[in-house]
Amino acid sequence: MSDTPGLNILGNEPSNPGRRRFIQGVIASGVAVSAMQYRFMQTARGQSSAGAERLITLNVNGQTRRVGVLKQETLAWTLRYKLGLTATKLGCDRAECGACTVTLDDTAHYSCSVLTHTVRGKKVVTVEGLASPDGTLHPVQQGVIDEQGFQCAFCMSGFMMAAAAFLKKNPNPTRAEMAHGVSGNLCRCQDYDKILTALMKAAEHTRRANNVA
Ligand code: FES
Repeated sequence: MSDTPGLNILGNEPSNPGRRRFIQGVIASGVAVSAMQYRFMQTARGQSSAGAERLITLNVNGQTRRVGVLKQETLAWTLRYKLGLTATKLGCDRAECGACTVTLDDTAHYSCSVLTHTVRGKKVVTVEGLASPDGTLHPVQQGVIDEQGFQCAFCMSGFMMAAAAFLKKNPNPTRAEMAHGVSGNLCRCQDYDKILTALMKAAEHTRRANNVA
């Protein structure tokens, strides 16, 4: 991804002062380590010089996972490169694009900007954990399949997780409310109209699943 993230689903420059302030603070404190930097660090200097990993227990997609993490390791990195959950994408790696969105206790978060050790005791859900154990697709997954709402689909996982969290709080949104609900996610193809149609179909499936007309 380039430095220019593009317009969001509302047609605005992405502006989320809270998130931006957070990431600026993280960068300033030297806590954030990008995936490429981390990979370079591991390759060039070896794992041990990057700090000692600590074994922690996470709840990911309803499963207990034991994993060794560095204190500066981001959740996106742990999910993708240690737990093999590669549906979570890394785009900007700095809290701007939303490709890395997962839910923590049913609230959407940018996993590139969350340190893994801070999510102990929380319920982490990625796209791989959206479907029911019996294989029934989540309404958001079904809506996306029904409407084929994405082009390259790199941003798709993030949009789906943001929409799943939003629909939990508001299962009967207007199109404008849904757009606001996922406005922290960017699509480089700018295919927002189709994405919104798919997410509104997801809302329809959610209401049906909840037996709400
Ligand atoms: Fe872009 Fe996390 S990768 S917000």
